[in-house]
Amino acid sequence: MVKAENLTKKFDGFTAVDGIDFEIYKGENFGFLGPNGAGKTTTMRMIQTVSPLTQGKLTLADMDVSERDREIKSIIGVAPQEDNLDPDFTVFENLVVYARYFDIAKEKAKTKAVELIKFMQLEEKKDVTITELSGGMRRRLILARALMNEPQILVLDEPTTGLDPQARHLIWAKIKDLQKQGVTVILTTHYMDEAAQLCDRLTIMDRGNIIETGKPAELVKKHVGQEVLEVLNSEESMTCLKNIFPDARIDVVGDKIQLFANKPRGVLAKILEKNMFKGASIRDSNLEDVFLKLAGRSLRD
Ligand SMILES: Nc1ncnc2c1ncn2[C@@H]1O[C@H](COP(=O)(O)OP(=O)(O)O)[C@@H](O)[C@H]1O
Ligand SMILES: [Mg+2]
Repeated sequence: MVKAENLTKKFDGFTAVDGIDFEIYKGENFGFLGPNGAGKTTTMRMIQTVSPLTQGKLTLADMDVSERDREIKSIIGVAPQEDNLDPDFTVFENLVVYARYFDIAKEKAKTKAVELIKFMQLEEKKDVTITELSGGMRRRLILARALMNEPQILVLDEPTTGLDPQARHLIWAKIKDLQKQGVTVILTTHYMDEAAQLCDRLTIMDRGNIIETGKPAELVKKHVGQEVLEVLNSEESMTCLKNIFPDARIDVVGDKIQLFANKPRGVLAKILEKNMFKGASIRDSNLEDVFLKLAGRSLRD
């Protein structure tokens, strides 16, 4: 559905997206995971055909974004990172007014708006203005709006950033429903759990580059193994662990040592039976471990 080759975006001298390649297949949920400033939004804006490429080639459904932007816009739905709902209008009006961009007939737009308000569980808010909505409701409305033109491809830029757990879970459920209906979903997030929950495949971006692409579980297995051992940090524990696992990756995080030995399940438990470590626990490794390994722990602001 989407194919990028050497996709590049420069702002004056600054390279925001640095010649990346990726391919997104029909019906999949594909995620761009990365810290602030990684280049996710810039990539989404090129996919939406609103930001011209500096270099490279980008196609959606075999249509070049540089040539066929109107046709592409008609098959995609976009939920931007920022809240750009019209504050002077009600929930219902926001949807109906938006439909004009797609030349949807008024009666059809009204029917569609009612249907989407129901789908996003906003019935009680249908006739209130935007200022009366919570953050989660606004996000749901932005998602509803993105669906007005019945898109084949949905672009969601940080769909749940800043929301509370209930609001996030509701949006996740709706995204999963849409994917079941056959919609190709492209999303960005800096929440590892969100990516693990929703994405069939994802790409990890940092500083305008792609550092890895794959299925969440495969990336975890490849980079950090199945399990992580955490123990309270002390010199003895460190020495002991280094002796037992000379090849393991050992990180010190806060007051803990994290050991990524990449051993089959059960090996770490056996070690704990034979050795006493203070504050020891074993947990499943996750996407966050992968991310921190690949992108490092230094803060980017
Ligand atoms: N219009 C712009 N002009 C100049 N720099 C920009 C512009 N848009 C984005 N950038 C820069 O490009 C980099 C990537 O930004 P962005 O794509 O928004 O990252 P992300 O969405 O991953 O947080 C950032 O360093 C940002 O400051
Ligand atoms: Mg962004």
